[in-house]
Amino acid sequence: MDVLEGLRALPDCSVDCVVTSSPYNKRGLLRSVTGLQHAPKGNYPGTWHKRIHYDTCSDDLDEDEYQEQMTEVLNELHRVLKEDGTVWLNHKARRAGFKEHMPTDFIQKSKLNLYGHVVWNLKRSVNQHVGFLTPVHEYLYQLTKTARPPAFFKHRLPLEFRSSVWTIKPERVKGHPCPFPLQLAENCILASTSNRDSVVLDCYAGSGTTLLAAKKLQRHFIGIDVSAKYRRIFERRCKDDLGEQQPQQQQEEERHPQKTPPQQPSPPQPSQSEPARSSTMRITRGHTARQQSWKRQKR
Ligand SMILES: C[S@@+](CC[C@H](N)C(=O)[O-])C[C@H]1O[C@@H](n2cnc3c(N)ncnc32)[C@H](O)[C@@H]1O
Repeated sequence: MDVLEGLRALPDCSVDCVVTSSPYNKRGLLRSVTGLQHAPKGNYPGTWHKRIHYDTCSDDLDEDEYQEQMTEVLNELHRVLKEDGTVWLNHKARRAGFKEHMPTDFIQKSKLNLYGHVVWNLKRSVNQHVGFLTPVHEYLYQLTKTARPPAFFKHRLPLEFRSSVWTIKPERVKGHPCPFPLQLAENCILASTSNRDSVVLDCYAGSGTTLLAAKKLQRHFIGIDVSAKYRRIFERRCKDDLGEQQPQQQQEEERHPQKTPPQQPSPPQPSQSEPARSSTMRITRGHTARQQSWKRQKR
């Protein structure tokens, strides 16, 4: 399912924490900056442009269109976020035509408040260029709904992640070109949610790293991605990485439900016209996205 379609189906003020990483539109930026009709396959002067091959998205929008879409997505996240919620957006400086382009260009066009940022030190880079320092870092923008303090639990972070630079090596997940590391998602969730009633969202869920971290930390979670293939990767990861075991306390809750989970609409359904390409993962603790199990919990 498309990100905006999925987000529009969510109610206002229903999400505690968003951890997400959008496509970077590197090819689209290069085309727009240089005036080329097609981004070149090989190297192009003054550009880091190692191409990312996604399942269904070309990462090649006109840059103005990309920034408009990103602003619209951030505004939807602003709407669905609770008053004290936080959006953690992973993005990076892009380089095209001997110029650096920062994500703050579109972040500051949105309604979200730029509260802070973390430098994610990956310690390595696929972008080597003699004319520039090798870029080994990306950003995690900490965005809030208002200029008031968000829910923030710094003391729950491991000591090494209490400063504004996080050193975490990239991880590989078979079948997805650019997953972020589980530790990164765990840090964001620990810093911005307090308990098992919290709702975590990833609107570009990919292989489901954020959802996996939320599941591990026993938060409710919702994932949206345009690719059905990536949803299957997430389901495989649940089995492989977590053994799909349900924590004892949760099994008890399901047998004797005590609390009403956060009120949410029915899961957005995959579009009828594009069944193979659409995917929404809506999941409560310990469940893959099955509407039936969601309803069972609500009763
Ligand atoms: C940078 S990746 C996210 C990776 C994810 N953090 C992980 O750990 O696997 C961006 C994701 O956005 C998805 N995507 C791209 N355009 C989209 C759109 N319009 N709507 C929904 N998802 C989209 C891609 O399929 C891709 O999986």
